Amino acid sequence: MNPGALIPTPDAIPVGWVWFEGLNILTFALHILMVNVLVGGAAAALYLRWRRDPAAAAFSGRLPTVFALTVNFGVAPLLFLQVIYGNLFYTSSILSAGWWLAVVGLLICGYYLLYIHQHAARRGGGGGSLLLGLGLILCIALVMTSVVSLMIRPTAWSVGIGGSAGAFLNVSDPTFAPRSLHFLFASLAVGGLALALYARCSGGGANVEAGMKAFFVFTLVQMATGLWWLMALGRPVLLAFLGDSPLATATLLAAVACSVGALAAGAARKPVPAAAWTVLTVLAMAGVRALARSATLAPWFSPASLKVTGEFSPLVFFLGTLAVGLAVVAYMLRLAFGGKEG
Ligand code: HEM
Repeated sequence: MNPGALIPTPDAIPVGWVWFEGLNILTFALHILMVNVLVGGAAAALYLRWRRDPAAAAFSGRLPTVFALTVNFGVAPLLFLQVIYGNLFYTSSILSAGWWLAVVGLLICGYYLLYIHQHAARRGGGGGSLLLGLGLILCIALVMTSVVSLMIRPTAWSVGIGGSAGAFLNVSDPTFAPRSLHFLFASLAVGGLALALYARCSGGGANVEAGMKAFFVFTLVQMATGLWWLMALGRPVLLAFLGDSPLATATLLAAVACSVGALAAGAARKPVPAAAWTVLTVLAMAGVRALARSATLAPWFSPASLKVTGEFSPLVFFLGTLAVGLAVVAYMLRLAFGGKEG
């Protein structure tokens, strides 16, 4: 069967696809940064508990807020993904429908477990709820990775259509393991950084050193898994990043340069510059990821082929709402993380 024949006919889009791709990259970078803080923060909180650190309860008490922000920041990239890759994304989420729908239950249970932990931690307990909560969050991440990696592999769709019963997980994809590990180690690095920043804001101490050490070590490991992911993408995509496409090559080089900056700041145990380099690295890597997606899809589909209707008003309205929304979120973050312990 020709896999291209399985791709549903896409809808028309209101303005040029580059707008949506750009907004997808930007909002995905925000989402994945929050996911990294959540997963890595929960791991760091477990470490603090294990060491019976007095900061454990206060640090892990921030996790439910981070969880809520992660979920909210997931909605925007989902919208943009659906606009330009809807025909591919719906297909993969239907092939994995059981897992995809289970995400809602996992989200609710994970969120409650972090709340239960927040209350139990004040009395010195709650380790079990934190561990289970982290486990459920990692399950969500695995489903997300499966669905978005399956989306760009129409060659795998016929296997699922043959008998997926909505239970297809794209684990046999050569990119699945490096992609998941890259995310996991990125989260552990960012978790260390979050701990260091938190410790620095609340008076410094040994946790700045411990957090920055974890950031440095896991960033190194993450670089190795990133290289593995790049190799697993297949020869044409790899070559695009090795000179065939000037844009892809330049974006990858910029991302690697930023990650070296993050590593250097990690080695110097400087949490604030490390955080700034990390944000830049994630933004550039989100661009690399989008370019890898379009290079992988090149034989089957390009958003450049979508019909454009030329209706600008929804985009203008969206950008205005986004600006107001971001200002409100910034204000909320200041209240949540800038104030005294509640
Ligand atoms: C704790 C909850 C969540 C976790 C741990 C999580 C984790 C992840 C991870 C690891 C990825 C990257 C997958 C990859 O590229 O391999 C991802 C992508 C994504 N997530 Fe989440 N996510 C969460 C919640 C949500 C929610 C609630 C939404 C939507 C409302 C969402 C929407 C998305 C979208 C749309 C992408 C793909 C974006 C793109 O490919 O452009 N996420 N998520």
